Amino acid sequence: MAVQIAPSILSADFARLAEAADAVSAADWLHVDVMDNHFVPNLTIGLPVVESLLAATRLPIDCHLMINDPDRWAPAYAEAGAKSVTFHVEAAHAPIRLARELRGKGARAGMALKPATPVEPYEDLLGELDMLLVMTVEPGFGGQKFLDVCLPKIRRCRELIGRHGLDLWLQVDGGVSAETIERCAEAGADVFVAGSAVFGADDPSRVVEELRRMAQS
Ligand code: DX5
Ligand code: ZN
Repeated sequence: MAVQIAPSILSADFARLAEAADAVSAADWLHVDVMDNHFVPNLTIGLPVVESLLAATRLPIDCHLMINDPDRWAPAYAEAGAKSVTFHVEAAHAPIRLARELRGKGARAGMALKPATPVEPYEDLLGELDMLLVMTVEPGFGGQKFLDVCLPKIRRCRELIGRHGLDLWLQVDGGVSAETIERCAEAGADVFVAGSAVFGADDPSRVVEELRRMAQS
């Protein structure tokens, strides 16, 4: 299981996003949180900023869409060139159709679960996905405390992935730091999003390497 680190630019200076991307060039992905002030009580950035970022960094972009009606909006992020596009299952009207559409447009298809959303009802559609995202905070804001209560779900997701023999990445997002990443890795996560832990540090690239080392051990 290869460990991947995806710093979230939600905790970066929004006036200096290209510099923020440069500061984490050792990462595997740049995680971009799109919020619409409806699915979550916060508003961030949308497609035009993602398009500018795509032109400003060599890092592949991992879009996490915390928006209503992703069926309508998500495909444009794949078309723009985001290599990974994740929608929330709580907001999707037709998750299978949407995942197929994202893949058809050349992106990896991700599906996210809020902390209180169980994975079991979606067991049969996991084969349609490239990544499952288990939120470990309520989506909407960076810098929140990691919810330990989500660890058993990470473990269950890993079990389901193994049972069905799927090639499915398991991403964890929210409160991931040097204090919590080992527990997430031990539970079975292999893609780690970290916002405040990375961009709140003096040397973001050093934190990326440190998190990677901790997740691997
Ligand atoms: C929260 C976002 C996260 C956020 C994580 O809704 O999806 O990606 O940036 O920030 P930290 O790592 O500070 O919890
Ligand atoms: Zn996110």
